[in-house]
Parts: sequence; structure tokens; C-alpha cells
Amino acid sequence: MSDDSYDLVIIGGGPGGYVAAIRAAQLGLRTACVEKRGSLGGTCLNVGCIPSKALLQSSEKFAEAKGHLADHGVKLGKVLLDLGTMMARKDKVVGDLTKGVEFLLRKNKVDYVQGAGSIPKPGEVAVALNGGGAETLAAKHILIATGSESTPLAGVEVDEKQIVTSTGALELAKVPGHLVVIGAGVIGLELGSVWSRLGAEVTVIEFLDRILPGMDGEVAKQTQRVLKKQGLAFRLGHKVTGAKTAKSGVTLTVEPVKGGAPEEVTADVVLVAVGRRPYTEGLGLEALGAALDNHGFIQVDERFQTTVPGLYAIGDCVPGPMLAHKAEEDGVVCVEMLAGQSGHVDYNLVPGVVYTWPEVAGVGKTEEALKEAGVDYKVGKFPFSANSRARTNAETDGMVKILADAETDKVLGVHILGPLAGDILAEAVLAMEFGASSEDIARTIHSHPAMGEAVKEAALAVAGRAIHI
Ligand code: NAI
Repeated sequence: MSDDSYDLVIIGGGPGGYVAAIRAAQLGLRTACVEKRGSLGGTCLNVGCIPSKALLQSSEKFAEAKGHLADHGVKLGKVLLDLGTMMARKDKVVGDLTKGVEFLLRKNKVDYVQGAGSIPKPGEVAVALNGGGAETLAAKHILIATGSESTPLAGVEVDEKQIVTSTGALELAKVPGHLVVIGAGVIGLELGSVWSRLGAEVTVIEFLDRILPGMDGEVAKQTQRVLKKQGLAFRLGHKVTGAKTAKSGVTLTVEPVKGGAPEEVTADVVLVAVGRRPYTEGLGLEALGAALDNHGFIQVDERFQTTVPGLYAIGDCVPGPMLAHKAEEDGVVCVEMLAGQSGHVDYNLVPGVVYTWPEVAGVGKTEEALKEAGVDYKVGKFPFSANSRARTNAETDGMVKILADAETDKVLGVHILGPLAGDILAEAVLAMEFGASSEDIARTIHSHPAMGEAVKEAALAVAGRAIHI
């Protein structure tokens, strides 16, 4: 036993784990963070949110240079893609940020233990060290923040070369001629956008009869129209039941969900993006008696404690939206409660953003959810085509949609398709956090000209009094 004095040992150094570690250290808890990847930041920083946003930004610049800049009177010569430089820039962004997290742990005096952690018994974390050997850490509390992994699809075996998950799709050595994306969720649309902008023909095959399940239906429909205009092809209501790989490419068997003849679709590269599942392998949870639900998520109570006293879990490996910012919030609240404070996460107010262009963002209830719950609501909408800043920027696709309680006017949901929707949404999240009515937003002064004015106008529209439409 190398040390018997940790207040908290965290397994997993992603946004859930490392943020919890820093907060715990701020609160005076002696903390260690165990991570086996060899770099901190988890899926988000290493192979998820951050590298995908770097490529989304770079590919958008390429698409802009090829097309839209000319609309602004900026004429370029031949625009060429240097994929190597684009990838190297992405890798540098990731490298700098992961090193930044390591610095933050050091600064806060969190011990960063590089290796694979498991829990042989409550109060003990065994680490198979990356550098060889093993170490056992004693801990008053153990927090599992091991995240999630891509859900496999039966009959479609991932090799990360021709059939890839999001990890492989961030590393392709050349632009595929035809990229088939399985799943019209967040990953499928973001990475489909990247490769489409860089010149690939992209077909998205989706099981459901809509894209972006979970987002507001009307906004999702508009998003599909905009992406189609950009060149993405959609096959909704279809499922992939098999894949054969050859040197020349991949042949997929695709069937209509409602039944009908299967057909073959060929692709150079296939991206499997049918969701993610909790990653808890090798922790020893079964032997400990920690209960999992039917989908493999660790069961926790409102204090994030598992069914084993002293063992806690947060982030993607517990139920709830699988998002970095939700994991961070779980982690902070969990350790604040461990330190004797009180805490609470409002899971109704977890914002969701899809970083296509335009972006899709939403918080609170969708129209479908309100209908299903039988809630009487009012709707206010405002299109970006009527927003002056969007027009000056030539970014007029999309709208802001506000859903408010018919009786009390309390804002119940805000959904945006539009330029920088993810950033614009922040005001709506804050407003909802304070229990705002749509009138509160409508009476708030918004600077002019700004995209955010579309939020004010949508709020005015709830009462039928938008000015600019
Ligand atoms: P997702 O759950 O967003 O979408 C998966 C899609 O695949 C769904 O539309 C589903 O109906 C479809 N699907 C499932 N089985 C299928 C089949 N056999 N054939 C065809 N379609 C099928 O999952 P995704 O995109 O893989 O993302 C995983 C997680 O990562 C999500 O929880 C997401 O929130 C998170 N993420 C978040 C990002 C962000 O916040 N911007 C970016 C990327 C991922």
C-alpha cells in the first residue's frame, strides 16, 4: 500500500473526472486521478469534441474559400486542400489542451496516476501502471468517471480504416470518394459535414424516419433541409444489416425498416455512429456488487453513490445525456456533497449542441415532449432571414423557437438552428435557470445588430408581437 491517505481517488481523467478532481482539491480533499490513456481529457479532448470541432472549423474555412467568399467579393485563385496540415493543426490543438489539463492537476496538487484502475474492494483502487508494475491506493471515497465507448453494430465490424467509429473518422488519411454514415445523430452529422465539405460524397443512413432524435422535430426537419442543400444525402427509415470489406471498398446491405427488399450500397469508408454505451469494463463492479441498469449504466442515487457505500459514479457511465458539460456538472456537485456542501444538477436544463453549420442547439422541453406530457404551451418563432446581423453575414438559414407555458408564460424550451446557435443558446439556458418568462426575455435589451436579437424577437413572437416579421 503506497499511501493510505487519499480522501478521493477518481478513475477516469475525462471532463467528468478531471473537473471533479480539481474541484475536490479546491475543497481541500487529498485527491488522485487515475487515467490509462496516457493523456488527460478523456474522449472529449482526445478523440471527440475537441478534434472534431477543430476539423469542423478547418473544413468550414475550406468550404468558405471554395464557395461563399466569392459572394462577399473576395476572389481567390485555385483553392487546394492540404489535409496533412489540417490534421496536424487538429493534433496540436488536442496536444496543447491535454497538456493544459495536466498542468491544472499539478497546480491544484492532484496526483495524476497513469495506469488502469480497478476496485478490488471498497476503499481500494488497484492501478496497473502504464510504465509497468502496480500500485494500490487507499481512498475514503472512490469516484468512477470512466465514460463511454461507441456502440458496435451487429454485422458491421469496425477496423478503424475502412469501417470507422468517430475515432477513425478524425484520422482518415485521404478524403473518401463516398462516405456512408450509419446514424443521423450528433456524430454522424458533424463528421459527415466535415468530409462532405472536404469533397466526399456523403450518404447518411438512419433507422428512424427523422434525424437528430431527441432534438425538437421541427428544428430537426429544417436542419435536414439545410444539410441536404449542402450536399448530404439521407436515407431515413433504413437499417444496415451487414458489411463486406474488400480492398476496393465496403459493400453494405441496407434494408427498409418497414420491410422490403435489401439492397447493396458501396462505400470507400463507413462511419458507424449509432450511439455510445457506458464503459465500465475491468473495474470489477460485478464482484463489488455495484448494480447496473439494463443498458449497462451504473445505478446511482441523488448523491451519485452507487449501491456500494463509498463508491460513486458520474458522467457518461451513469444515466442521463452523454455530454461533457453534464459530466462536469455531475462531478462538481458530487464532490461538493462529499465535502459537506449541498448540490443539485437540473437535468432538464442540459443544453445540447450539434456543431454543423448552421449549428443546432436546444435546451428544455421539445414540442413533442410537451405534447406527450399534455402541457398547454405557446410558441414564438423568429427566422434568421429577418435578423439584420445574419443578413450582413450572409448566414440566414434557421430560426429561434421558444416554447412557453400557456398560462404562466414560463419558458419551457428553446430550440435554435442558426449561426453560432450553441453560443446564442447560453442566454436561454441562463434565463431558464432563473425561471424566466418569455416576457422577461422579450423585455431584455439585446444589442443591435446581433444574432441574439432573434431570441428577443422569438420571445416577442410568443405574445404575437415580434417587430421585424
Ligand atoms: P446519437 O444517439 O446522437 O445518434 C445515433 C443515431 O443512430 C440515432 O439517430 C439512431 O436512431 C441511429 N441508429 C441507431 N441504430 C441504427 C442502425 N442500426 N442503423 C441506422 N441508424 C441507427 O449517437 P452518436 O451520434 O453516435 O453520438 C453518441 C453520443 O455522443 C451522443 O450521446 C451524443 O450526444 C454525444 N456527442 C455529442 C456531441 C456534441 O455535443 N456536439 C458530439 C458528438 C457526440
